[in-house]
Amino acid sequence: KRVAILISGGGSNMLALLDSMVGDHPARPCLVLSNDPAAGGLAKAAARGVPVAAVDHRPFKGDRAAFEAELLKPLEEAQPDIVCLAGFMRVLTGEFVSRFQGRMLNIHPSLLPKYPGLHTHSRALAAGDAEHGCTVHEVTAVLDDGPILGQARVPVKAGDTPEALAARVLEQEHHLYPAVLRRFAEGRRDPVHLG
Ligand code: GRF
Repeated sequence: KRVAILISGGGSNMLALLDSMVGDHPARPCLVLSNDPAAGGLAKAAARGVPVAAVDHRPFKGDRAAFEAELLKPLEEAQPDIVCLAGFMRVLTGEFVSRFQGRMLNIHPSLLPKYPGLHTHSRALAAGDAEHGCTVHEVTAVLDDGPILGQARVPVKAGDTPEALAARVLEQEHHLYPAVLRRFAEGRRDPVHLG
């Protein structure tokens, strides 16, 4: 299976996925693609011999369709079987998503359906939640929705700042996403539960 990974920044989840696709793993990375040419993850992927590309979203301003038309070019050229959004911070239209329906995954830093959208850690703290975590789900036209493929839970600790909680969740993301991707690439859809 060929896996394309979309990033917007440092790409720590992308790195965890790259490092997992070795040996008898049924998938291999075919592209790392970013909406930011300066994304730190691009150099890390290139250093590992993975093809990289970037389409800067800023020249397209609000013209989401035009940006996505450009983004599709390197993505379709790479002919991925699976597309993983990993710290990708642009909202994709239903039209774009429909091209990869059933084979596009995303990782979100909350226990969906709680806290779709941004600032999930401060929202969990504000709510006084005893636990928090991350979710890998199939991407559909509705943001941070779609069938859940895995979740990892972490305790919220007294005195937690959003940054401390985010770091605890991120560490689990790096275990959850590779576990879900391997299972997904093997054709399994039974959910992964960690922590
Ligand atoms: C992090 O907030 C993570 O929780 C979310 O995307 C952000 C950046 O992740 N999935 P990464 O380090 O670029 O993978």
